Amino acid sequence: MILSIESSCDDSSIAITCIKTLKLIYHKKISQEKEHSIYGGVVPELASRLHVQTLPDILVLCKEYFPFLKAIAVTSEPGLSVSLAQGIMMAKALSLSLNIPLININHLKGHIYSLFIEKKEIFPMCVLLVSGGHTQIIQAKSYDDTDIIASTLDDSFGESFDKVAKMLGLSYPGGPIVEQYAKKGDENRFSLPTPLQQSPKIAFSYSGLKNAIRLKIEKLKEEKECLSKKDKEDLCASFQNIAIKHIVQKVTKLFKINPPINFAIVGGASANIKLRNQINDLCIKYNTNLHLSKLEYCSDNAAMIGRLSIEHYNNKCFS
Ligand code: KG4
Ligand code: ZN
Repeated sequence: MILSIESSCDDSSIAITCIKTLKLIYHKKISQEKEHSIYGGVVPELASRLHVQTLPDILVLCKEYFPFLKAIAVTSEPGLSVSLAQGIMMAKALSLSLNIPLININHLKGHIYSLFIEKKEIFPMCVLLVSGGHTQIIQAKSYDDTDIIASTLDDSFGESFDKVAKMLGLSYPGGPIVEQYAKKGDENRFSLPTPLQQSPKIAFSYSGLKNAIRLKIEKLKEEKECLSKKDKEDLCASFQNIAIKHIVQKVTKLFKINPPINFAIVGGASANIKLRNQINDLCIKYNTNLHLSKLEYCSDNAAMIGRLSIEHYNNKCFS
Protein backbone atom coordinates (compact mmCIF):
# COMPACT_ATOMS: atom_id res chain seq x y z
CA MET A 1 0.00 0.00 0.00
CA ILE A 2 1.01 3.63 -0.50
CA LEU A 3 0.12 6.42 1.90
CA SER A 4 -0.45 9.73 0.10
CA ILE A 5 -0.67 13.27 1.47
CA GLU A 6 -2.23 16.37 -0.16
CA SER A 7 -1.85 19.83 1.40
CA SER A 8 -1.17 22.14 -1.57
CA CYS A 9 -3.86 24.69 -0.71
CA ASP A 10 -6.68 24.62 1.84
CA ASP A 11 -7.55 20.90 1.99
CA SER A 12 -5.74 18.49 4.32
CA SER A 13 -6.12 14.99 2.93
CA ILE A 14 -4.57 11.56 3.42
CA ALA A 15 -5.27 8.35 1.48
CA ILE A 16 -4.05 4.77 1.42
CA THR A 17 -4.18 2.93 -1.91
CA CYS A 18 -3.42 -0.72 -2.67
CA ILE A 19 -0.63 -0.98 -5.26
CA LYS A 20 -1.83 -4.21 -6.89
CA THR A 21 -5.61 -3.76 -6.93
CA LEU A 22 -5.73 0.10 -7.09
CA LYS A 23 -8.35 -0.08 -4.32
CA LEU A 24 -8.74 3.01 -2.19
CA ILE A 25 -8.44 1.62 1.32
CA TYR A 26 -8.58 4.82 3.36
CA HIS A 27 -9.42 8.39 2.41
CA LYS A 28 -10.03 11.40 4.64
CA LYS A 29 -10.17 15.09 3.81
CA ILE A 30 -10.65 18.13 6.03
CA SER A 31 -11.45 21.36 4.17
CA GLN A 32 -10.66 24.76 5.60
CA GLU A 33 -13.34 26.58 3.58
CA LYS A 34 -15.15 27.88 6.66
CA GLU A 35 -11.98 29.36 8.17
CA HIS A 36 -11.00 31.18 4.95
CA SER A 37 -14.55 32.22 4.02
CA ILE A 38 -14.50 35.43 6.10
CA TYR A 39 -11.49 36.62 4.07
CA GLY A 40 -13.09 35.79 0.69
CA GLY A 41 -10.09 33.64 -0.29
CA VAL A 42 -7.30 31.46 1.06
CA VAL A 43 -4.91 33.09 3.55
CA PRO A 44 -1.65 31.09 3.15
CA GLU A 45 -0.35 31.49 6.71
CA LEU A 46 -3.71 30.42 8.16
CA ALA A 47 -3.88 27.45 5.75
CA SER A 48 -0.42 26.33 6.83
CA ARG A 49 -1.26 26.52 10.55
CA LEU A 50 -4.52 24.60 10.03
CA HIS A 51 -2.65 21.81 8.17
CA VAL A 52 -0.42 21.44 11.26
CA GLN A 53 -3.54 20.71 13.32
CA THR A 54 -5.54 18.57 10.90
CA LEU A 55 -2.95 16.39 9.12
CA PRO A 56 -1.93 14.52 12.32
CA ASP A 57 -5.62 14.06 13.22
CA ILE A 58 -6.36 12.19 9.99
CA LEU A 59 -3.00 10.35 9.97
CA VAL A 60 -3.63 8.76 13.34
CA LEU A 61 -6.87 7.19 12.05
CA CYS A 62 -4.99 5.00 9.53
CA LYS A 63 -2.15 3.88 11.80
CA GLU A 64 -3.24 0.23 11.53
CA TYR A 65 -2.04 0.19 7.88
CA PHE A 66 1.51 1.41 8.61
CA PRO A 67 3.04 -2.12 8.63
CA PHE A 68 1.79 -2.65 5.05
CA LEU A 69 3.14 0.59 3.57
CA LYS A 70 5.69 0.38 0.73
CA ALA A 71 6.05 4.13 0.05
CA ILE A 72 4.91 7.61 1.07
CA ALA A 73 3.66 9.97 -1.64
CA VAL A 74 3.16 13.70 -1.27
CA THR A 75 2.11 16.66 -3.42
CA SER A 76 5.31 18.66 -3.86
CA GLU A 77 4.27 21.26 -6.48
CA PRO A 78 2.57 23.52 -7.54
CA GLY A 79 0.74 25.14 -4.64
CA LEU A 80 1.12 27.51 -1.71
CA SER A 81 4.65 26.91 -0.45
CA VAL A 82 3.73 27.22 3.25
CA SER A 83 0.90 24.71 2.78
CA LEU A 84 2.94 22.27 0.68
CA ALA A 85 5.70 22.35 3.31
CA GLN A 86 3.43 20.87 5.99
CA GLY A 87 2.55 17.79 3.91
CA ILE A 88 6.15 17.40 2.74
CA MET A 89 7.49 17.52 6.31
CA MET A 90 5.02 14.85 7.41
CA ALA A 91 5.88 12.70 4.36
CA LYS A 92 9.63 12.99 5.01
CA ALA A 93 9.18 12.09 8.68
CA LEU A 94 7.08 9.02 7.77
CA SER A 95 9.49 7.94 5.02
CA LEU A 96 12.48 8.18 7.39
CA SER A 97 10.83 6.55 10.38
CA LEU A 98 9.25 3.68 8.41
CA ASN A 99 12.35 3.38 6.19
CA ILE A 100 10.37 3.37 2.93
CA PRO A 101 10.81 5.52 -0.22
CA LEU A 102 9.35 8.97 -0.75
CA ILE A 103 7.46 9.87 -3.97
CA ASN A 104 7.01 13.49 -5.11
CA ILE A 105 3.77 14.13 -6.96
CA ASN A 106 2.86 17.04 -9.25
CA HIS A 107 -0.56 18.28 -8.16
CA LEU A 108 -1.82 18.98 -11.70
CA LYS A 109 -0.95 15.49 -12.90
CA GLY A 110 -2.68 14.32 -9.73
CA HIS A 111 -5.89 15.97 -10.95
CA ILE A 112 -5.60 13.97 -14.20
CA TYR A 113 -5.38 10.77 -12.13
CA SER A 114 -8.62 11.68 -10.33
CA LEU A 115 -10.11 10.10 -13.48
CA PHE A 116 -8.44 6.76 -12.72
CA ILE A 117 -9.16 6.25 -9.00
CA GLU A 118 -9.73 2.49 -8.57
CA LYS A 119 -9.49 2.20 -12.39
CA LYS A 120 -6.87 1.48 -15.05
CA GLU A 121 -5.44 4.53 -16.84
CA ILE A 122 -6.67 5.51 -20.31
CA PHE A 123 -4.22 7.25 -22.69
CA PRO A 124 -3.87 9.25 -24.87
CA MET A 125 -6.18 11.71 -23.15
CA CYS A 126 -6.76 15.37 -23.91
CA VAL A 127 -7.54 17.03 -20.57
CA LEU A 128 -9.20 20.33 -19.70
CA LEU A 129 -7.97 21.26 -16.21
CA VAL A 130 -10.12 23.90 -14.52
CA SER A 131 -9.14 24.67 -10.94
CA GLY A 132 -8.60 27.62 -8.64
CA GLY A 133 -5.03 28.13 -9.81
CA HIS A 134 -5.05 26.79 -13.38
CA THR A 135 -6.97 26.68 -16.65
CA GLN A 136 -5.14 24.48 -19.11
CA ILE A 137 -5.59 21.96 -21.88
CA ILE A 138 -3.10 19.14 -21.46
CA GLN A 139 -2.22 16.44 -23.94
CA ALA A 140 -1.41 13.40 -21.78
CA LYS A 141 0.23 10.27 -23.19
CA SER A 142 1.33 8.68 -19.92
CA TYR A 143 1.98 9.57 -16.29
CA ASP A 144 5.29 11.21 -17.21
CA ASP A 145 4.53 12.41 -20.74
CA THR A 146 2.24 15.44 -20.62
CA ASP A 147 2.21 18.59 -22.75
CA ILE A 148 0.38 21.82 -21.94
CA ILE A 149 -1.20 22.92 -25.23
CA ALA A 150 -3.27 25.87 -23.96
CA SER A 151 -3.43 27.92 -20.78
CA THR A 152 -4.83 31.11 -19.31
CA LEU A 153 -3.17 34.44 -20.01
CA ASP A 154 -4.24 35.81 -16.60
CA ASP A 155 -6.82 34.55 -14.07
CA SER A 156 -8.09 30.98 -13.93
CA PHE A 157 -11.67 29.79 -14.46
CA GLY A 158 -12.23 28.80 -10.80
CA GLU A 159 -10.52 31.92 -9.49
CA SER A 160 -12.88 34.13 -11.54
CA PHE A 161 -15.87 32.43 -9.84
CA ASP A 162 -14.20 33.10 -6.46
CA LYS A 163 -13.67 36.79 -7.31
CA VAL A 164 -17.24 37.26 -8.59
CA ALA A 165 -18.58 35.67 -5.38
CA LYS A 166 -16.38 37.99 -3.32
CA MET A 167 -17.61 41.07 -5.22
CA LEU A 168 -21.21 39.98 -4.57
CA GLY A 169 -20.58 39.32 -0.87
CA LEU A 170 -21.15 35.56 -1.30
CA SER A 171 -19.13 32.86 0.48
CA TYR A 172 -15.81 31.17 -0.40
CA PRO A 173 -15.19 29.09 -2.50
CA GLY A 174 -17.17 31.00 -5.09
CA GLY A 175 -17.68 28.22 -7.66
CA PRO A 176 -20.48 26.22 -6.01
CA ILE A 177 -22.37 29.29 -4.73
CA VAL A 178 -22.16 31.18 -8.05
CA GLU A 179 -23.39 28.02 -9.81
CA GLN A 180 -26.29 27.79 -7.34
CA TYR A 181 -27.26 31.46 -7.79
CA ALA A 182 -26.90 31.16 -11.58
CA LYS A 183 -29.50 28.36 -11.66
CA LYS A 184 -32.21 30.83 -10.63
CA GLY A 185 -30.91 33.80 -12.64
CA ASP A 186 -31.52 35.27 -16.09
CA GLU A 187 -28.31 34.78 -18.12
CA ASN A 188 -29.42 37.35 -20.71
CA ARG A 189 -30.03 40.28 -18.34
CA PHE A 190 -26.45 41.59 -18.41
CA SER A 191 -24.48 41.70 -21.61
CA LEU A 192 -20.84 40.79 -21.04
CA PRO A 193 -17.91 40.45 -23.47
CA THR A 194 -16.79 36.93 -24.43
CA PRO A 195 -13.00 36.83 -23.88
CA LEU A 196 -10.65 36.35 -26.87
CA GLN A 197 -13.62 35.77 -29.19
CA GLN A 198 -11.89 37.27 -32.24
CA SER A 199 -8.50 35.74 -31.45
CA PRO A 200 -7.46 32.64 -33.40
CA LYS A 201 -5.35 31.60 -30.39
CA ILE A 202 -6.42 28.65 -28.26
CA ALA A 203 -5.90 30.34 -24.90
CA PHE A 204 -8.03 31.57 -22.01
CA SER A 205 -8.49 34.90 -20.24
CA TYR A 206 -10.76 35.84 -17.35
CA SER A 207 -9.52 39.22 -16.11
CA GLY A 208 -11.59 41.23 -18.63
CA LEU A 209 -14.78 39.34 -17.82
CA LYS A 210 -14.13 39.81 -14.10
CA ASN A 211 -13.69 43.53 -14.65
CA ALA A 212 -16.89 43.73 -16.73
CA ILE A 213 -18.82 42.18 -13.82
CA ARG A 214 -17.23 44.68 -11.42
CA LEU A 215 -18.45 47.57 -13.62
CA LYS A 216 -21.99 46.12 -13.78
CA ILE A 217 -22.05 45.84 -9.98
CA GLU A 218 -20.80 49.43 -9.57
CA LYS A 219 -23.46 50.72 -12.00
CA LEU A 220 -26.24 48.85 -10.17
CA LYS A 221 -24.99 50.25 -6.85
CA GLU A 222 -25.23 53.78 -8.27
CA GLU A 223 -28.89 53.14 -9.10
CA LYS A 224 -29.84 51.55 -5.79
CA GLU A 225 -28.21 51.22 -2.41
CA CYS A 226 -27.81 47.46 -2.29
CA LEU A 227 -28.23 44.62 -4.74
CA SER A 228 -31.28 42.36 -4.44
CA LYS A 229 -31.03 38.57 -4.46
CA LYS A 230 -32.47 38.66 -8.00
CA ASP A 231 -29.71 41.08 -9.13
CA LYS A 232 -27.08 38.71 -7.73
CA GLU A 233 -28.71 35.68 -9.37
CA ASP A 234 -28.85 37.43 -12.74
CA LEU A 235 -25.23 38.60 -12.44
CA CYS A 236 -24.09 35.06 -11.56
CA ALA A 237 -26.09 33.56 -14.45
CA SER A 238 -24.78 36.12 -16.97
CA PHE A 239 -21.18 35.65 -15.76
CA GLN A 240 -21.31 31.84 -15.70
CA ASN A 241 -22.86 31.76 -19.16
CA ILE A 242 -19.98 33.75 -20.71
CA ALA A 243 -17.26 32.04 -18.62
CA ILE A 244 -18.40 28.67 -19.99
CA LYS A 245 -19.10 29.97 -23.51
CA HIS A 246 -15.45 31.10 -23.64
CA ILE A 247 -14.18 27.63 -22.70
CA VAL A 248 -16.53 25.87 -25.11
CA GLN A 249 -15.51 28.18 -27.98
CA LYS A 250 -11.82 27.43 -27.46
CA VAL A 251 -12.33 23.68 -26.99
CA THR A 252 -14.45 23.68 -30.19
CA LYS A 253 -11.55 25.33 -32.03
CA LEU A 254 -9.27 22.56 -30.83
CA PHE A 255 -11.73 19.82 -31.81
CA LYS A 256 -12.09 21.33 -35.31
CA ILE A 257 -8.31 21.06 -35.84
CA ASN A 258 -7.84 17.65 -34.27
CA PRO A 259 -10.77 15.92 -32.55
CA PRO A 260 -9.37 13.74 -29.71
CA ILE A 261 -10.48 10.16 -29.08
CA ASN A 262 -10.61 10.80 -25.33
CA PHE A 263 -11.36 14.12 -23.67
CA ALA A 264 -11.64 14.80 -19.93
CA ILE A 265 -12.46 17.67 -17.56
CA VAL A 266 -10.69 17.65 -14.19
CA GLY A 267 -10.04 20.04 -11.28
CA GLY A 268 -12.30 21.63 -8.68
CA ALA A 269 -14.35 23.57 -11.24
CA SER A 270 -15.03 20.42 -13.28
CA ALA A 271 -17.86 19.86 -10.79
CA ASN A 272 -19.79 22.63 -12.62
CA ILE A 273 -22.82 20.93 -14.18
CA LYS A 274 -23.39 23.46 -16.98
CA LEU A 275 -19.74 23.11 -18.05
CA ARG A 276 -20.02 19.31 -17.96
CA ASN A 277 -23.24 19.37 -20.03
CA GLN A 278 -21.91 21.73 -22.70
CA ILE A 279 -18.64 19.83 -23.11
CA ASN A 280 -20.66 16.60 -23.23
CA ASP A 281 -22.74 17.98 -26.15
CA LEU A 282 -19.53 18.94 -27.95
CA CYS A 283 -18.01 15.48 -27.42
CA ILE A 284 -21.15 13.81 -28.80
CA LYS A 285 -20.93 16.04 -31.91
CA TYR A 286 -17.28 15.10 -32.52
CA ASN A 287 -17.64 11.44 -31.54
CA THR A 288 -15.18 11.88 -28.67
CA ASN A 289 -15.34 9.87 -25.43
CA LEU A 290 -15.85 12.19 -22.45
CA HIS A 291 -14.25 11.17 -19.13
CA LEU A 292 -15.23 12.83 -15.84
CA SER A 293 -14.09 12.26 -12.26
CA LYS A 294 -16.65 11.46 -9.59
CA LEU A 295 -17.85 14.73 -8.03
CA GLU A 296 -16.15 13.87 -4.72
CA TYR A 297 -12.73 13.66 -6.48
CA CYS A 298 -12.95 16.91 -8.51
CA SER A 299 -11.53 19.18 -5.80
CA ASP A 300 -8.16 18.61 -4.12
CA ASN A 301 -7.81 15.20 -2.48
CA ALA A 302 -5.16 12.63 -1.55
CA ALA A 303 -6.89 9.77 -3.40
CA MET A 304 -5.81 11.18 -6.80
CA ILE A 305 -2.26 11.71 -5.46
CA GLY A 306 -2.22 8.10 -4.24
CA ARG A 307 -3.49 6.76 -7.58
CA LEU A 308 -0.75 8.58 -9.54
CA SER A 309 1.91 7.50 -7.02
CA ILE A 310 1.31 3.87 -8.01
CA GLU A 311 2.64 4.65 -11.51
CA HIS A 312 5.71 6.29 -9.93
CA TYR A 313 6.18 3.28 -7.61
CA ASN A 314 5.89 0.72 -10.41
CA ASN A 315 8.48 2.67 -12.42
CA LYS A 316 10.77 3.08 -9.36
CA CYS A 317 10.45 6.83 -9.69
CA PHE A 318 11.38 7.85 -6.14
CA SER A 319 12.50 11.18 -4.71
O1 KG4 B 1 -8.89 21.91 -7.83
P1 KG4 B 1 -9.32 22.77 -6.70
O2 KG4 B 1 -10.02 22.12 -5.54
O3 KG4 B 1 -8.12 23.59 -6.11
C1 KG4 B 1 -7.04 24.01 -6.88
O4 KG4 B 1 -6.17 23.18 -7.20
O5 KG4 B 1 -7.07 25.22 -7.20
O6 KG4 B 1 -10.27 23.91 -7.33
C2 KG4 B 1 -10.89 24.87 -6.54
C3 KG4 B 1 -11.58 25.86 -7.45
C4 KG4 B 1 -12.12 27.09 -6.71
O7 KG4 B 1 -11.72 28.24 -7.40
C5 KG4 B 1 -13.62 26.88 -6.76
O8 KG4 B 1 -14.36 28.09 -6.74
C6 KG4 B 1 -13.79 26.17 -8.07
O9 KG4 B 1 -12.71 25.25 -8.11
N1 KG4 B 1 -15.07 25.44 -8.15
C7 KG4 B 1 -16.03 25.71 -9.07
C8 KG4 B 1 -17.11 24.84 -8.77
N2 KG4 B 1 -16.75 24.08 -7.69
C9 KG4 B 1 -15.50 24.46 -7.33
N3 KG4 B 1 -16.08 26.59 -10.08
C10 KG4 B 1 -17.20 26.63 -10.84
N4 KG4 B 1 -18.28 25.84 -10.60
C11 KG4 B 1 -18.28 24.95 -9.58
N5 KG4 B 1 -19.34 24.17 -9.37
ZN1 ZN C 1 -6.16 21.33 -7.30
